[in-house]
Amino acid sequence: MIILAIESSCDETSAAVLVNGDMRSNVIAAQLIHEQYGGVVPELASRAHQQHIWPVVERALADASVAKTDLSAVAFTRGPGLLGSLLVGASFAKALALGLAIPLIEVNHMQAHVLAHFIDDPERPEKPNFPFLCLTVSGGHTQIVRVDGPLAMHVIGQTMDDAVGEAFDKSAKLLGLPYPGGPLIDKYAAEGNPLAYRFPMSEMPDLNFSFSGIKTAILYFLRQQTKDNPDFIQQHLPDICASIQHTLIQMLLTKLKRAVRETGITQIAIAGGVSANRGLRTALNQLGQEQNWQIFIPRFEYCTDNAAMIAMAAKFKFEQGDFVDQTVSPLPRLSF
Ligand code: KG4
Ligand code: ZN
Repeated sequence: MIILAIESSCDETSAAVLVNGDMRSNVIAAQLIHEQYGGVVPELASRAHQQHIWPVVERALADASVAKTDLSAVAFTRGPGLLGSLLVGASFAKALALGLAIPLIEVNHMQAHVLAHFIDDPERPEKPNFPFLCLTVSGGHTQIVRVDGPLAMHVIGQTMDDAVGEAFDKSAKLLGLPYPGGPLIDKYAAEGNPLAYRFPMSEMPDLNFSFSGIKTAILYFLRQQTKDNPDFIQQHLPDICASIQHTLIQMLLTKLKRAVRETGITQIAIAGGVSANRGLRTALNQLGQEQNWQIFIPRFEYCTDNAAMIAMAAKFKFEQGDFVDQTVSPLPRLSF
């Protein structure tokens, strides 16, 4: 089984080749053009995908020493994501599958983030057993997912407004940091005191989250502080970042604890771009030890958007003969 997978849901063009369960390549082309605009510009993202897709696919095949004619199937991200970006990957995959007369597999991007845990990784030989809970945290989503099987997932809690990745990025913007600010908050937070400043945590019922209030709280806080001291941000950047990060992590972990109480499931995984956050990884590992949970954290490369996770999800679909025909189209709001 040789699967070529393509990911193009947002601002990363990626292609991966999976050969009999072995992830032979995972090429990712990031789009730096968005930095100057402080966020992803959909039209520019779509155009950049068009420029990147051929070279990225060629490189993924070459890295895997696989010829196009060896492929058993082509997989692509159907959604959720930006329509113009999804269209590039979907059209490319459809054309390739048609030209090579091989099956086409559509993949849900959020399911793929969860299934990244099943990519063979010598440093992480243990895989979660079903059922497990996955905290899926990215720039577009914040969900607690109950995973009953590779393709049987249920969202049991989610954000009612901003995603936690958005909260990281918007907070960073208020601090004058470039987009995407999440990794920069992570970097400065490592040097700061997480208890230096306190920001209010929103109270949401059930297992749901709300992150829109925190950016307003940070905005007012910064306005107040810079009124007396215009250099406040420059002077206290590590402490501010550490405090913001600490607040966001506590909001996530509070709900995760509740999800464990309610479901009785103690195998806990995290996935999505924000799972690259070192503060979150450390805090989750600590909580896991305290609570006697088994924690699964993917390697950095498989946290942010990548095609290896799409290939992994496609493998499960291939085994079930779950293929689509040429009438398939992208769904920007695809849910589970
Ligand atoms: O999964 P992903 O690559 O794309 C989406 O599907 O959205 O997630 C991107 C998000 C961005 O908001 C980015 O700032 C955040 O993940 N992110 C981080 C870190 N690395 C990426 N947030 C906090 N700390 C990080 N180290
Ligand atoms: Zn993602």
